[in-house]
Amino acid sequence: MAIRVEFLQQDSELVALIKKLVTMRRAPIKIVIANWKGGVSKTASTVQLANIFSMMGLKVGVVDQDAQGNTTNSLIITKQNQKEGDFAYEETLMRGIKNGDLSKVRVEINSNLYLFPSTSDFFSFPNFLDVKFGVAAEGSPNFDSLEHQKISYLPSLLDPYIQDLDILITDTPPGDSYATKSAVYGSDYIIVALQTQSDSLENAVDFIKKFVPKIYKFKQDFDILGILASMLNAPGSPLDSNGELPRKRLEVLKNTPKWTLDLEVYQDALDEFGDSELFSTIIPYMRRITSVPRRGIRLEDRWDKQILEVYYKLAIESLTRILYRESGQEYINFEKEGENVNG
Ligand SMILES: Nc1ncnc2c1ncn2[C@@H]1O[C@H](COP(=O)(O)OP(=O)(O)O)[C@@H](O)[C@H]1O
Ligand SMILES: [Mg+2]
Repeated sequence: MAIRVEFLQQDSELVALIKKLVTMRRAPIKIVIANWKGGVSKTASTVQLANIFSMMGLKVGVVDQDAQGNTTNSLIITKQNQKEGDFAYEETLMRGIKNGDLSKVRVEINSNLYLFPSTSDFFSFPNFLDVKFGVAAEGSPNFDSLEHQKISYLPSLLDPYIQDLDILITDTPPGDSYATKSAVYGSDYIIVALQTQSDSLENAVDFIKKFVPKIYKFKQDFDILGILASMLNAPGSPLDSNGELPRKRLEVLKNTPKWTLDLEVYQDALDEFGDSELFSTIIPYMRRITSVPRRGIRLEDRWDKQILEVYYKLAIESLTRILYRESGQEYINFEKEGENVNG
C-alpha cells in the first residue's frame, strides 16, 4: 500500500464522541441507504461509507438486503484480496432467516468491518414473509397488523448480532419491497440516494412522500439524515474546490456551457427539499468505483484515494449530522477552526 491516507487521523475527536453516544444508547447507530429507484449509487455508497467508517476506527456492520448481492461481492472480494486466497462464506442472510437463527451469518471482513451477506436466495424474502405471517389485501382490517409483523421481523432477528457495533449500514434493493420496508423500519437514519438525472428527483420525492410515511405509521423514531446527490453524468468537474455546489457556484455556472441537466436537477432538488436537507458532499463520477464489485476495495493509486477522500467527507458530514440530531448540539472541531483562523 503505497498510498498514504493521513487525512484519516484528523477526526479522532468526532469518532470518540460517536463512540460515547453509542455507549449511551446501548445500540449502534443504524443507517439505511435507500430510494426505490435503482442505479442511484446506493450500493456503491453503502460499501464506501462502511469502509471509511471502519478506517476511521468505528466498528461497522453491513447488511446486504439486495438479492443482487453487489455489496456482498464488493466486501468478500476485499477480504479475499487481503488474505490473498479464497475465502467463502457459509451462510447467507436468507438461510439464517429461514432457520430463524442469524448466529452463523455474520462474516468478518476485517476487525472493524462485518457483513451479513446476500445472494439471489434473498429474492425469496417476500415469499418467506407471506408464508410465515399470511397475506391480507391492502385496506382490509388485518392488513396493518400483518404488515407490522412482516417489516419488524428481520430487524428483530438481527438485533442480537449487532450489539457490539458502532454503526450498522443496510443496503436496499430498488422497488417497494419488504427488504426496503424492513431496512427502513430497522433504522435510525435514512440516507436518500439521489442521482441528478431528470426522472430521479421525482423518484426521491415520491420515496420521501409516499414510502417513508408507510413505515412511519408503525414507528416514529427514525429520521431522514440527508439527501445524497451523485452527479454521475456531469462532464468535467462542475464542483467547487471543496467538492460542493453551493448556490453561489450554481449562479456562476448557469450561463456557461458547463450548465448541464445534472446541475439543473441539483438546483431543483435544493428548491424542493431545502438546502440543509441535501448533504453538501456530492458524489462525483469516479470511474474506479465501477470496478469495486469485481475487484474489491483497493488502496493503490490516486483514483482509489479519491474515492476515500469523497466518502471521508461524507462520513464526517453524516457523523456531524447524527451528533447534532441526537444532542441538539452542533459538532465543531475547534482545533481545526482555530487553524483556519490563524493560517
Ligand atoms: N460515483 C460513481 N461514479 C461512477 N460510477 C458510479 C458511481 N457510483 C455508482 N456508480 C456505478 O453506477 C452503477 C449503479 O450504482 P449502484 O451503486 O449499483 O446503484 P444502486 O445500488 O442504487 O442500484 C454501478 O455500475 C456503479 O458502479
Ligand atoms: Mg444496489
